[in-house]
Amino acid sequence: MSEGDESAALTELAKRRGFFFGSSEAYGGVGGFYTYGPQGAALKSNVEEAWRERFAVQEGNLEIEAPTIMPEPVFEASGHLDGFDDMLVECAECGESHRADHLIEDNSELEDAETLSPEEAAEKIADLGLVCPTCGADLAGQSVEDFNLMFETNIGPGSSTPGYLRPETAQGIFVEFPRIKEYARNSLPFGVTQVGRAYRNEISPRKSIVRTREFTQAELEHFIDPERDEADLSAVEDVEVLLYPATEQEADDGDYVETTIGEAVEDGVIGNAWLGYFLGIAQEWYETVGVDMDRFRFRQHLAGERAHYSSDCWDAESEVDGDWIEIAGFSYRSDYDLSKHGEYGDDDFTVFQQYDEPKTVERAVVDPDMATLGPEFGAQAADVAEALETLAERDPDAFDADEVTLDIDGEEVTVDTDVANFSVETQTEAGEHITPHVVEPSFGIDRTVYTLLAHAYETDEVDGEARSYLSLSPSVAPTNVGVFPLVSNVDELVDLADDVAEELRAAGFAVVYDDSGSIGRRYRRQDEVGTPFCITIDRDGLEGDGANTVTIRERDSGKQVRLPVDDLVGTLVGLRAGTASFDDVLDDNEVVEA
Ligand code: GAP
Repeated sequence: MSEGDESAALTELAKRRGFFFGSSEAYGGVGGFYTYGPQGAALKSNVEEAWRERFAVQEGNLEIEAPTIMPEPVFEASGHLDGFDDMLVECAECGESHRADHLIEDNSELEDAETLSPEEAAEKIADLGLVCPTCGADLAGQSVEDFNLMFETNIGPGSSTPGYLRPETAQGIFVEFPRIKEYARNSLPFGVTQVGRAYRNEISPRKSIVRTREFTQAELEHFIDPERDEADLSAVEDVEVLLYPATEQEADDGDYVETTIGEAVEDGVIGNAWLGYFLGIAQEWYETVGVDMDRFRFRQHLAGERAHYSSDCWDAESEVDGDWIEIAGFSYRSDYDLSKHGEYGDDDFTVFQQYDEPKTVERAVVDPDMATLGPEFGAQAADVAEALETLAERDPDAFDADEVTLDIDGEEVTVDTDVANFSVETQTEAGEHITPHVVEPSFGIDRTVYTLLAHAYETDEVDGEARSYLSLSPSVAPTNVGVFPLVSNVDELVDLADDVAEELRAAGFAVVYDDSGSIGRRYRRQDEVGTPFCITIDRDGLEGDGANTVTIRERDSGKQVRLPVDDLVGTLVGLRAGTASFDDVLDDNEVVEA
């Protein structure tokens, strides 16, 4: 399909067949909010479940569910209040708001306009002679401003307790770290996952569910001791990946690196083994849920592109309509978040790490003489004592002098060193408190759903008729199986079809029962929403050699086999889990000519 066609066909199909559509349309609609219809809600929920299974269950991680609204101090600490901005340019003529970096990227060769400062962006807009996409007015001379993307609200009546809708699910995990570390028995490394809604007041939402104002993230915060915890790459070292490192993006030729995770980590292309580990399992997971891996890459962030908390970041990107879409970010967040919450919050965001052997260390200590400090410094005496303790830890040599100078709330005070009773003690320590580092795989579920639909959308011709179908993976398809009685006026046939549908539902399959229209029409309806298998109950399945048998048809190939009703559940379990292919089923059963 040509560029733009894929998205247009997808958006049309999504609305017509109930995957997703703009919400509140009865009231004119509002940009950036989408409702998932029955097909879309089921697909999205299956993707979330597949993610949970891989990243929470199989990795042995802990899953939590935190509130979506959090008080202002959380976001002061996290840096989102100050630093979570996009560049806004407003049209003086029609008042429409636009994202300055997107305007520049859409109209020039530049691919990283978000690295520009607002002033540079304004200059670029003028140089490129950009006009308002809505009304065509000249945007040269318009200022570009930083716009904070968080939705603000008030918690309770009045405005004394401002809160924000979380812009990432991650903060719910970081803020609860002091309690969660207890559930993890204070034993690093451990991972905590959360699947839930995040909110960003995007300046210009676009591409349907790709950039919305309310979306679902599936995030894993993996807490490590950077000095001791090494990633075990054995499970992923041979996983082949297509990498687009920052160095290649900066080079004129912009080549990709085709390699394995093991080699990329060894060669330093991926600078951190934990990031390598998560890229490896993500590559495999995307493949199992049905992303076309020929339209998939990992791109490293350029230095100016990284979020305020990130020291290295790779995005998983999928190609749709010739554009690359970021569908997940893999970030090394270091100890940024836990240190900030430790600084701003009242709890302990560190973990006590026991040494293998107790260590004997020399510690500079003070025992301030309060009988002298009290009369001399009055209400400030306790602060002076505390400042002496801090100085002893930081700069023990300072106590060689007769007096030391301290900063007490911005005021300089001088204290005789005798009063401090300074000494160096030998102590035995069992361990130390460390602030864990965080490695974060953060998946956008909506963008994954969009990618799966775009990559699954196919057209072909069946019996001389054009057909469009979704070749969705059986592991995530909204409906697992269609059940069709060939005719609806033969009681025995309808009874068997009812029994088959009931048995499959009881076994946990999502079943659509359809007895209206020709079999061909019924197939087409299910093909279009990606149902991988359809079962037809016909007269041959009622009597003689074929008694209690049905036919099962595979969506993409249209091939059919006849198999006993008793084998249905087992066969479909294997097909859905990917442990069996339809070719295996064809080999083991009587093939039926379509
Ligand atoms: N905790 C890290 C974090 O939030 P991010 O790269 O800003 O990182 C992670 O977001 C993922 O969330 C993205 O890769 C994308 O898939 C998804 N995402 C971000 N903004 C989105 C939006 N406005 N609409 C839909 N999905 C979005």
